[in-house]
Amino acid sequence: MGPSSSAKNLLLFLALFGSVLLFRNAECASEEDTLFQEINSYRASLNLSTLIQNSNAACLAKQLAGQFKNQPCSNTSGADTVPGTEPQFSNYPDLLSTCHLNVSDTRDGAIMPACVPDLVPSLVLTNFTLTQYNQNLNDTKFTGVGIGSNKNWIVVIMTTSTSEGDYTNAQSASWFFRPGLICHSAFLLISAIFFL
Ligand SMILES: *[C@@H]1O[C@H](CO)[C@@H](O)[C@H](O)[C@H]1NC(C)=O
Ligand SMILES: *[C@@H]1O[C@H](CO)[C@@H](O)[C@H](O)[C@H]1NC(C)=O
Ligand SMILES: *[C@@H]1O[C@H](CO)[C@@H](O)[C@H](O)[C@H]1NC(C)=O
Ligand SMILES: *[C@@H]1O[C@H](CO)[C@@H](O)[C@H](O)[C@H]1NC(C)=O
Ligand SMILES: *[C@@H]1O[C@H](CO)[C@@H](O)[C@H](O)[C@H]1NC(C)=O
Repeated sequence: MGPSSSAKNLLLFLALFGSVLLFRNAECASEEDTLFQEINSYRASLNLSTLIQNSNAACLAKQLAGQFKNQPCSNTSGADTVPGTEPQFSNYPDLLSTCHLNVSDTRDGAIMPACVPDLVPSLVLTNFTLTQYNQNLNDTKFTGVGIGSNKNWIVVIMTTSTSEGDYTNAQSASWFFRPGLICHSAFLLISAIFFL
């Protein structure tokens, strides 16, 4: 075995190790991507517009899922929350500013947290389509969506195209900082190394 082949083995090892890390990383967002596609298929079946991904809303959804993560699923939380008893987080203003948002550009949006053990995709979808959240999913006023998850919680935020609900305040995060893209580009990089 020459030095070049052991160098290659090292690269192979790093590539495998890197892939494992990446795929363990929740930022790879497969639950989010799946739900995004399913919501849009559902809207297509109702002849409603396709929702555009909104990165600020996705950021806030991720922050909120992080707040919910340690709460157990119950029949009075998530999609079963009794309207008017939604949890209030005292650090909500901080979560907004983390995502370059303020109350005025989120007012008309809809924030919908759901709790599903292990985020089983079929149950996640029906927690939105067969619950009180359906009235938002099938509403023509919404044009965008951002989805974030943490442990058993997944949060969908729907946005409008008006300044009161478009979730686009100030400078939004640059496109290349979007978690999904980081994940995909890192995966491409590692695949490239793999084929060296
Ligand atoms: C959607 O549009 C198609 C064609 O215009 C129509 O046949 C169908 O009934 C519509 N579906 C709904 C749910 O409105
Ligand atoms: C929720 O679950 C509790 C106990 O598991 C039960 O007593 C209660 O009736 C349930 N409430 C609803 C709204 O289903
Ligand atoms: C939110 O941002 C808008 C536009 O930047 C600004 O006009 C408004 O005063 C801000 N509202 C709050 C509550 O910070
Ligand atoms: C929502 O998810 C819970 C699991 O937490 C499940 O028990 C329930 O049946 C789901 N509700 C719907 C309407 O799919
Ligand atoms: C939209 O959602 C509301 C509330 O769930 C429901 O009453 C209405 O029938 C739904 N419309 C369609 C086309 O699904």
